[in-house]
Amino acid sequence: QVKRTSVPDIAGRKGQDPVVVLTAYSVSMARLLDDHCDCLLVGDSLGMVLYGLDSTLPVTLDMMINHGAAVVRGSSKACVVVDLPWASYQESPAQAFRNAARVLAETGASAVKLEGGAEMADTVDFLVRRGIPVMGHVGLTPQAVNALGGYRARGRSDAEQAKILGDAKAIAEAGAFAIVVEGVVEPLARQITEQVPVVTIGIGASAACDGQVLVSDDMLGLFGGFTPKFVKRYAEIGENVSKAAADYAADVRSRTFPGPAHIFPARKG
Ligand code: KIV
Ligand code: NA
Repeated sequence: QVKRTSVPDIAGRKGQDPVVVLTAYSVSMARLLDDHCDCLLVGDSLGMVLYGLDSTLPVTLDMMINHGAAVVRGSSKACVVVDLPWASYQESPAQAFRNAARVLAETGASAVKLEGGAEMADTVDFLVRRGIPVMGHVGLTPQAVNALGGYRARGRSDAEQAKILGDAKAIAEAGAFAIVVEGVVEPLARQITEQVPVVTIGIGASAACDGQVLVSDDMLGLFGGFTPKFVKRYAEIGENVSKAAADYAADVRSRTFPGPAHIFPARKG
């Protein structure tokens, strides 16, 4: 029995071997990814990827808890981190603590992730001091889609770069053990990684980051919706599923399935 990767294990990887992170929402995917990842992220991207929602805003705490618990059950090695969904933590540090505590207690995950910069530093500090490890998330923060006016890359202006660098510093100072840096221009992601003393996990960011994350359904070719420029496709699982369903349908319609191997004869021959 290998010990599960802990939050301090991940935190200790600053400037070391890159930290490998993929999203997982289900037992089956967690089982497949567990051997290969340091960290499994139960992202609120599940709202769009699994539930077909237009944004991550309608995702609920109960959805995150149910999927988080499934991913913990399906894994034994990776450190499991669960996203706090929109409106479950922004109101106050006390609200954030109450909901983050439910996530850890009801899923068995090791940490929560929340989006935001300097304005969330007090909340990160409040959670961390009370025993809840926090992963930050700066740059393109999808829960702020209304405020940002879309999902375009961040940090193209000097002012925006300074703002995002300040956000990462504030979240690190507040005690986050790692920070996702999403959808920012490459030099900014590199600069954040150099100047911020905690592990950075890039997505659409830079190979200089201390780790990388992708949405598994995107990199596997499972998600039919829009996939951003920064996703590299490592497989075309969706095409395989379509082909399998077509083959099955043809077999059923031609009565070639079930065959002799798949039926129970009256007596052993
Ligand atoms: O929800 C998610 O999957 C995420 C990752 C893309 C970082 O937050
Ligand atoms: Na997320």
